[in-house]
Amino acid sequence: MEVIISETYEDMSRAAAKAVAKLLNSKPNAVLGLATGSTPLGAYKELVRIHKNEGLDFSQVTTFNLDEYVGLKKDHPQSYHYFMHENLFKHINIPPQNVYIPSGTTDNFVAFCAWYEKRIRECGGIDLQVLGVGSDGHIAFNEPSSSLGSRTRIKTLARQTIADNARFFDKIADVPIYAITMGVGTILEARSILFLANGEHKADAVAAAIEGPVTSMITASALQLHPDVSCCLDRPAAGKLKMIDYYKWVQEKHPSAPQGT
Ligand code: F6R
Repeated sequence: MEVIISETYEDMSRAAAKAVAKLLNSKPNAVLGLATGSTPLGAYKELVRIHKNEGLDFSQVTTFNLDEYVGLKKDHPQSYHYFMHENLFKHINIPPQNVYIPSGTTDNFVAFCAWYEKRIRECGGIDLQVLGVGSDGHIAFNEPSSSLGSRTRIKTLARQTIADNARFFDKIADVPIYAITMGVGTILEARSILFLANGEHKADAVAAAIEGPVTSMITASALQLHPDVSCCLDRPAAGKLKMIDYYKWVQEKHPSAPQGT
């Protein structure tokens, strides 16, 4: 795992957007896996800026989102469809037919989940998966105790996640209880992973994910099994990492390291 620690959220977001832009510049028809939530907002804003000011092209890009709340229509202001449209898609030149987001309103969730997995494979698999992390260590909506081999399916949200996400709704009772989510196994098949976290409230989850044992109780810890993960953290989120001096040393020595390091 590469651990990149930035002083601020803005620096972290720029580093994340730069990694996405680098991929798109070398592979214009890349397949991106995308996350919602507060964490990637700065990176999406920066990608929009690079698109507008430097011409970053999304015309051949395909995207697959991680998850969606069950029961929310696409135009619900808290749906992840709405979030992605407002914060990224309406500002860039991605063709709407290249955008895939799990349906929260399908009448056949089992068939939809199987189709979503099939569509990812048919598009050649995900080149770069952007991830945030829940305060309970979840990636996508793979709550503690989710199988590390899980595939796209319905999950019941943990009470902690419902409480964390209540800030986006008028009241906690409005937060959906179920979500459709890519599984940990689905995520681990991405060719590379960009794991983002900011804020002190994520420090425990980040430390457990990067330095703790691999366990279904912290599904982000499964990323330790993946050969190509970059963790972009701001300083508060990195605050509980035991090996922080080593990560900083690696960052410092990176420019002179042999190619491929
Ligand atoms: C969202 C998602 C979730 C969030 C996580 C952190 O698509 O997959 O795992 O990344 O809940 O959310 P924020 O960024 O709002 O703290």
